[in-house]
Amino acid sequence: MKDALVVYYSRSGCTRGLAQRLAERLDADLEEIHEAHGRSGAFGFLRSLYDVMRAREPRIAAPRHDPREYKMVLVGSPVWASHVSSPVRSYLTQYAGSLRRLGFFCTLRGSGATETLAEMAALREPQAETIEHGRFPSLALTEAQLRQDKAPAALDAYVETVRQRMRAAGTPKRRGRPAPRGRSASRPARTRADRDDVAAE
Ligand SMILES: Cc1cc2nc3c(=O)[nH]c(=O)nc-3n(C[C@H](O)[C@H](O)[C@H](O)COP(=O)(O)O)c2cc1C
Repeated sequence: MKDALVVYYSRSGCTRGLAQRLAERLDADLEEIHEAHGRSGAFGFLRSLYDVMRAREPRIAAPRHDPREYKMVLVGSPVWASHVSSPVRSYLTQYAGSLRRLGFFCTLRGSGATETLAEMAALREPQAETIEHGRFPSLALTEAQLRQDKAPAALDAYVETVRQRMRAAGTPKRRGRPAPRGRSASRPARTRADRDDVAAE
């Protein structure tokens, strides 16, 4: 099994930029979601609004990477009217149900991140009445945060959480210095979600 896959849709480049940063830091493969028709310009904006308000699931191209071959899959979307973007909805509907370890991320101008991330989680587990807090590592960054030179603290924390989940899955994924032998005193405590992951092995 491979380690991590970062999947994203991006209409105007923000989510793509974040996905690339994540893939680089996690040494992950990258998968962009493609549609037959673009969504650029004013017409593309209106079509996006129309699609998202009707929870439409547009046809997307077959992915280059099989997400089932990865121990951890991160899926990223722009926020559209406080919802997950339509192409990402299509991807999650088609593939998320067969994936064990998922994380989500989104980019936005300013509002609607909580609703969008909750919706992405619900597309993974449609039956769940409430999804346990922390079940899926999640990250939301605004366009302004993404323009900063320095990585926002939330991005560092997200990367660390994803690395913890991957270690819990038996994939120490560290570049540079090898991990010390035995249990390190500074090793972060395992979260409940980590234990669930191990139990699901
Ligand atoms: C149809 C549409 C609806 C949007 N709705 C919201 C919104 O509800 N809240 C928000 O903060 N930004 C909203 N945005 C802005 C995008 O979420 C934001 O620009 C995002 O970073 C774009 O990502 P991208 O460049 O990867 O496409 C919307 C953008 C579009 C196209």
